[in-house]
Amino acid sequence: MNHSFDWVGRAPTVERAGMQGQEKTEDSLIREIRELRDRIAELDRLAVAHRMTEQALAQSLEKLRRATGVVIDVIIMAVETRDPYTAGHQNRVADLARSIAAEMRLPADVIDGIRVAGRIHDVGKISIPAEVLTRPRHLSPAEYSLVKTHPEIGYEILKNIDFTHPVAQMVYQHHERMNGSGYPRGLSGEAIMPEARILAVADVVEAICSRRSYRSALGIEKALKEILQYRDVLYDGEAVDACVALFRDRGFRFK
Ligand SMILES: [Fe+2]
Ligand SMILES: [Fe+2]
Repeated sequence: MNHSFDWVGRAPTVERAGMQGQEKTEDSLIREIRELRDRIAELDRLAVAHRMTEQALAQSLEKLRRATGVVIDVIIMAVETRDPYTAGHQNRVADLARSIAAEMRLPADVIDGIRVAGRIHDVGKISIPAEVLTRPRHLSPAEYSLVKTHPEIGYEILKNIDFTHPVAQMVYQHHERMNGSGYPRGLSGEAIMPEARILAVADVVEAICSRRSYRSALGIEKALKEILQYRDVLYDGEAVDACVALFRDRGFRFK
């Protein structure tokens, strides 16, 4: 008797008596192969559809990023037209804050959020009369309380823009101080977001290093002395250390 094995070598079939059974096996094998081919084709179609969806999503995200970039540019232009000093200040603060965040080894997306917030952190000054901003003397208490409204106004301007980071909150908190002596809400310590604490250090250092309408530039050593003196009192200790390291060890300079 002749024995043969089916395609998977499972059970011997008897050639003569089993011819019909073997044909059925071949038929079902062909059917299985067809089904398998159909399934592979379906998977291919799904993979193509998935890739297309992914591409469409990436394009939408890119469009959204570009639109947000345009919104930021418009805001910067509006500030620049009215108050060139603040525009230059915001760019230098953005550059230093981004570098402090990088020195602190924060994640890339957080660093980028801090840079964006830095570029527009004083946008609220748009609502303050230009003559107050450029006054060639120290401000009166009434003028100072007007200036102190700018973080909240900035927050109101930015809060509905769909940033990928909490930029509006960072702007809101950039004048808060670690011991609660800042404004507008007198937040303290951990209640202030780390990004805003970094912005605060960069903001103060840039302000001391720059010429103001009522005084000349005081220089980087004076700025570093200020943040070291009030390390963990007014300013976040880690952000202070990173900032000092940038100027003393890494050769950071304002552009
Ligand atoms: Fe400010
Ligand atoms: Fe500022």
